[in-house]
Amino acid sequence: LPTEHLQIIEAHELLAKFYNHLLVNTNEGAQALEYLFKRGFTKESIQKFQVGYSLPEWDFSMKFLEKRGFSHDLMEKAGLLGVREKDGTYFDRFRNRLMFPLKDSKGKIIAFSARALTKDDQPKYLNTPETVLFNKSSLLYNFYEARSQIRKQGFALLFEGFADVISADSAGVKNGVAVMGTALTENHVKQLKRLADSVMLCFDSDAAGEGAAYRAGMLLVSHGISVSAAILPEGLDPDDYIRNYGSEKFRADVIGNPLTWTAFQLLHYRRGKNLRNEGEKLEYIEKAMITISELENAVERDLYIRQLSEEFSLSLDALLEQQQQVNITRKNNQPPLLKHQDIQPTAPKPA
Ligand code: UTP
Ligand code: MN
Ligand code: MN
Ligand code: MN
Ligand code: MN
Repeated sequence: LPTEHLQIIEAHELLAKFYNHLLVNTNEGAQALEYLFKRGFTKESIQKFQVGYSLPEWDFSMKFLEKRGFSHDLMEKAGLLGVREKDGTYFDRFRNRLMFPLKDSKGKIIAFSARALTKDDQPKYLNTPETVLFNKSSLLYNFYEARSQIRKQGFALLFEGFADVISADSAGVKNGVAVMGTALTENHVKQLKRLADSVMLCFDSDAAGEGAAYRAGMLLVSHGISVSAAILPEGLDPDDYIRNYGSEKFRADVIGNPLTWTAFQLLHYRRGKNLRNEGEKLEYIEKAMITISELENAVERDLYIRQLSEEFSLSLDALLEQQQQVNITRKNNQPPLLKHQDIQPTAPKPA
């Protein structure tokens, strides 16, 4: 590694230790520590993930590193300092925040994500900007630590936030990684694919999380990775769930009971749709049939077609015919079209 890179890593390692000390051992850090305990962080998880606290001062980290021989220029390149426009002077980027060290795939600290302690301090998470060592859209949080567990268990758990990774780890789930608030990228996929051919998505249960999970799943599947999706009650993220329902229930009911990728896609297609409205219902059935028709496994296709037929009281014949049409349309490379008369409802089932 070039000297500059080594110095950036060294600066981060020193600061992470110092921030952790401030959090755990000093009066200045007491409030931040209290916040973490209230959220369910344990002493063990704080140490394992080297969580820390940065003081509410404009030059504390700068002076700390100055004393240890680091130049302002290097600190700025490391993303640790900002520059004032009016006079070109430097200031600490991270102030009065919880400090979460971010490691590269070799376990070296190369950046920070810093959480605000109150709602009016924005943004909620302030991240190190792009540097020579840190690229937000290629880093997977906890990748270095989770690597062997991902290999061993044969799948990676993919979370939306790193608080979820830490909570899951405390709950005994050690194969979790998280993107840093960006979409899953090709680069992420490559890293995961080296370790396992299967990924379980466990994103926040809100519209944004579900949309992100859908896009992540699509990308993973397109790279030959098999995908499943763990589902949480509406409005919760994995960290919330573990705090509310406990570790055992998280492992058994959430991680232990994921949806197949097909079932998740069908769930996603119905979000926000009023299925009592005929047009919206047909739209949903069309999307569902396209997804089902793409399945390679005939038994799986049969299973989901039967489910659809039962749920909407449609004749199997009509659905199978529709499936053939989808296949023909796909071969001709035209957008599929579903006409109303293609699907005849069967007689409603007796209650
Ligand atoms: P969330 O808003 O779901 O945060 O964003 P969270 O992980 O649940 O965090 P808590 O529980 O409120 O503390 C998911 C991820 O998006 C990124 C972070 O990496 C976060 O973990 N993010 C979010 C940012 O980078 N900046 C933000 O301001 C917000
Ligand atoms: Mn690709
Ligand atoms: Mn979220
Ligand atoms: Mn969240
Ligand atoms: Mn959260």
